Amino acid sequence: MSVLIGKKILLGISGGIAAYKTASLVRLFIKAGAHVQVIMTPASKDFITPLTLSTLSKNPVYSSFYNQDDNPGELAKQNERWNNHVELALWADVMVIAPATANTLSKMANGTCDNLLIAAYLSAKCPVYYAPAMDLDMYKHPSTIANFFSLTQFGDTIIPAESGELASGLSGEGRMAEPEHIVAFIEADLESRLPLKGRKILITAGPTYEAIDPVRFIGNHSSGKMGFDIASSAANLGASVLLVTGPTHCKATHPLIRVIPVVSAQEMYDACHLYYADVDVAIAAAAVADYKPKNVASQKIKKNADDFTIELEKTKDILASLGQSKKNQFLIGFALETENEIENAKLKIQKKNLDLIVLNSLQDKGAGFGKATNKVTFIDKFFTIEAMELKSKEAVADDILNKVIAHFYEMS
Ligand code: CTP
Repeated sequence: MSVLIGKKILLGISGGIAAYKTASLVRLFIKAGAHVQVIMTPASKDFITPLTLSTLSKNPVYSSFYNQDDNPGELAKQNERWNNHVELALWADVMVIAPATANTLSKMANGTCDNLLIAAYLSAKCPVYYAPAMDLDMYKHPSTIANFFSLTQFGDTIIPAESGELASGLSGEGRMAEPEHIVAFIEADLESRLPLKGRKILITAGPTYEAIDPVRFIGNHSSGKMGFDIASSAANLGASVLLVTGPTHCKATHPLIRVIPVVSAQEMYDACHLYYADVDVAIAAAAVADYKPKNVASQKIKKNADDFTIELEKTKDILASLGQSKKNQFLIGFALETENEIENAKLKIQKKNLDLIVLNSLQDKGAGFGKATNKVTFIDKFFTIEAMELKSKEAVADDILNKVIAHFYEMS
């Protein structure tokens, strides 16, 4: 699964013969799951048409400050509009300038803002990659080297040119990296920058089912969605995830997520303790049954008597046991409360030796089981309280992972 899935890529194309290869580059970005918008310098349009690129990117292509110049004609005149370079730059998660000619590199290094591409570049706050393309002597010229140096100082990343036959007929270094290599380079670089790369996270999710007899159980309405969303968010940030889940219809597709299916609280307990010593973070999002039948009938119970009583006994508190055997793990629990929410949650932090608790109140509309949204309050072990807005469960998951990132940042 590519790290480019869902990423917004702003591709800047400058005027070199390698511009013809950007058709493949756009296709590869789209194939990797990215959204692409293209800005062309006027000179690049001699090498590839905006129509090709807008067809492949499924977006309008920009090359000047006014769309009337990009799309001449009566209709365009009626809809004359300023192409907002700031908007384009801030839209982007990643900016890629390919090919980056000697001229464009020089403008980037010196802030010579005479076209839309450079204006967007100067407005970009995201990581910028550039793939130089020029003749071999130009590539080695001290002026070009000085520009590379400046761009490195600015935090931009060069995708080095490759060696081979050049448009001039000479052979040597200066060819724009092949589109496949550009995509692989950016993927590897973005992956290495992921804030949770190399971290292992244990997550519990879903309900547990406690058997009464071979066909009946005690369960609850947990869908598992919150835990699965946390797992996806963690994996997208580079973490290796062990997702111990009770019965659910949720699916995890990210290759960094290993699903460990369990049924009962005891099975969840055993699975968690098998992996806990080896993880950096544990997040208990499961709705674990607090009680289970004391005796499980080996045969289906017949409806003979008018009354029927099941004797229950406590299950093991998985989170509390993780708190007890905690070494360096950052431990996050959930609390579902209906009254005295904050006080009860604070008690749970202490009782279960947590670093952070995510408090759900069933009094909040839109929060809880089976909903796509959640409204949570974070309380840390110092009892700092942060109430969040009602959000999608995906956004709540991102907020939780931001707390994890902040923890590692504070530790480093
Ligand atoms: N939890 C757990 N094992 C249990 C019960 C709960 O790991 N046997 C975890 C849940 O995953 C959650 C946290 O403990 O992260 C709190 O769950 P909650 O149901 O709010 O509280 P309980 O500890 O069960 O206490 P009570 O039901 O009395 O509020």
